[in-house]
Amino acid sequence: MQSWLRGRICPEREKFTFFAPDNRSKIPGCNFYISFVLSQEINVWSPFGVSHLYRISTVIRMNIQWVMEEMSTSLSRSLLVLLLSLLVAMHLWLWIQRCWKADGPPGPFPWPVIGNAAQLGSAPHLYFSRMAQRYGDVFQIKLGNRIVVVLNGNAIRTALIKKAADFAGRPDFVSFQFVSGGKSMAFGNYNDWWKVHRKVAQSTVRTFSTGNIRTKKVLASHVLSESRELLHLFLKKTSEEKYFQPHKFLTVSTANIMSAVCFGKRYSYDDAEFLAVVGRNDQFTKTVGAGSIVDVMPWLQYFPNPIKTIFGNFKTLNEEFFEFIGQKVVEHRKTIKSRIIRDMTDAFIIALDQGLTGSSGVYLDKEFVPPTVSDIFGASQDTLSTALQWIILLLVRFPDIQHQLHEEVAKVVDSTRLPNIEDQPHLPYVMAFLYEVMRYTSFVPVTIPHSTTTETSISGYRIPKDTVIFINQWSVNHDPSKWTKPEVFDPKRFLDENGTLNKDLTSSVLIFSVGKRRCIGEDLSKMQLFLCTTLLIHQCIFTANPAEPQSLDYTYGLTLKPTDFTIAVTHRSSMDLLDTYVQQLANRESNGEAGLSEHN
Ligand code: HEM
Repeated sequence: MQSWLRGRICPEREKFTFFAPDNRSKIPGCNFYISFVLSQEINVWSPFGVSHLYRISTVIRMNIQWVMEEMSTSLSRSLLVLLLSLLVAMHLWLWIQRCWKADGPPGPFPWPVIGNAAQLGSAPHLYFSRMAQRYGDVFQIKLGNRIVVVLNGNAIRTALIKKAADFAGRPDFVSFQFVSGGKSMAFGNYNDWWKVHRKVAQSTVRTFSTGNIRTKKVLASHVLSESRELLHLFLKKTSEEKYFQPHKFLTVSTANIMSAVCFGKRYSYDDAEFLAVVGRNDQFTKTVGAGSIVDVMPWLQYFPNPIKTIFGNFKTLNEEFFEFIGQKVVEHRKTIKSRIIRDMTDAFIIALDQGLTGSSGVYLDKEFVPPTVSDIFGASQDTLSTALQWIILLLVRFPDIQHQLHEEVAKVVDSTRLPNIEDQPHLPYVMAFLYEVMRYTSFVPVTIPHSTTTETSISGYRIPKDTVIFINQWSVNHDPSKWTKPEVFDPKRFLDENGTLNKDLTSSVLIFSVGKRRCIGEDLSKMQLFLCTTLLIHQCIFTANPAEPQSLDYTYGLTLKPTDFTIAVTHRSSMDLLDTYVQQLANRESNGEAGLSEHN
């Protein structure tokens, strides 16, 4: 006896494709066959989806019953019983899933155990954007056993601004508990304790960066001193190797600027301890980035596998990072004088040692000094060094744009002085370039995962309390209804016909997030990136390695990091101007007046 049973479930589509039975007839030489010829996609989350599935599975069962009547061998009978059981189990499971998310957002079909983890691929933000086109700005996926609601496009501002407190939580992910000694503000949940913590962190960052003219000048002096070191190194590397990888030097340089702000100290590019602390950003951002599976499949920790190893490394690097910060705090306590605040660590010691009480009576004490410094130093150095990597990469990939940038800078800042922050309003093309780098690369494509603090709703969908929320910033920056040819790198899109920066458009770029969790380092970052970029363009020419593919590839994590590339750097005239400036700065510092006076 011969039987034919055709049909399939199509996992590569997000919907089920069923070949539903529509007839049965005998063919010559066979006792019977069943033909499944009606192919149709069924949206299992649509109102009719489940009843549709039910109808189809009933027909399948009827067919199988009919087949069983016809078949006589026990082997075939067992196979069919097995098939029947599988179908019924799947049917039941779909039914349960459907009931589970009765009024939740739609989304792709999740597989048992892993959910949609396998579909995320190497660029989850792109997968999210594709799903948003299919299901709308609000959809849900399942990662392991966690339901995740992904917000895209306009839904992001609606949720994070109009329902700010509802969407301001952080999930109870196990990895988050290893950041900043388990007392992180950035990775901690939204509560009264967090509010006090964020307030002190935010005001201190401002005091040491963009708070007033004086603080801006101090930050600018750190940036210029450090850029000088970087450029000397770039020129040396170019003369020795012709083309070299700038990645490590940019990481140390950025970390040094923040180290000067946080600890009043810079480190040499060969300092092994410092390199060990700042050189493992990739491992950190891969673990805490949205879509990392460490936190959603906890059972992976119970047997040897690559994820367990990655998580082990993550714990170690967090411990070592926190130990490094702890040592700095201890050293500061030994030398602090209550009247002189040397750097951010001093400021946090002075603010927190006396204790800070929030409105609801929560109390922050000196235990919170190392976690707060750790949050600031950690959050800043990875993001800023990634931004600089992209800036350099785009300068060498688009030499015409580099040329136009230099033309603008040279017109405003002649060769007798160095750029400063007051030049910013006169350099709209530089600003347009920086906004385009942020938009085009969207190098923080998805924010740190959020969670709901209460039962809430968005776009008419009910979202239960403690649901994990992913904020897909990339979708906003690449929305074709907002940006002409979003896939093209074109700084001019931010300039109007008079060459003026279009502030409406620049404020549409989303990379620092919005709402209660908005990045507290936004102003500092924009100022630092402006100064670094303008100085580098004023002083040097950056060239791509012609032997390399002109790629803009990256690896995914909390930050998107460009894959390795090499460059050559040549000076436009000489380092004399920068050397003289830094020497003057050192003299002022030894006279106790660093950063207080004009450098030009
Ligand atoms: C170009 C540079 C930077 C980018 C693109 C960036 C972006 C972000 C993003 C997307 C978030 C997550 C917001 C959310 O979860 O909704 C964030 C959080 C944060 N950032 Fe930044 N950041 C940058 C630089 C900095 C700097 C320089 C600092 C410190 C001075 C900093 C401190 C923080 C902190 C403390 C948080 C946690 C805020 C919270 O959870 O309430 N960031 N940043």
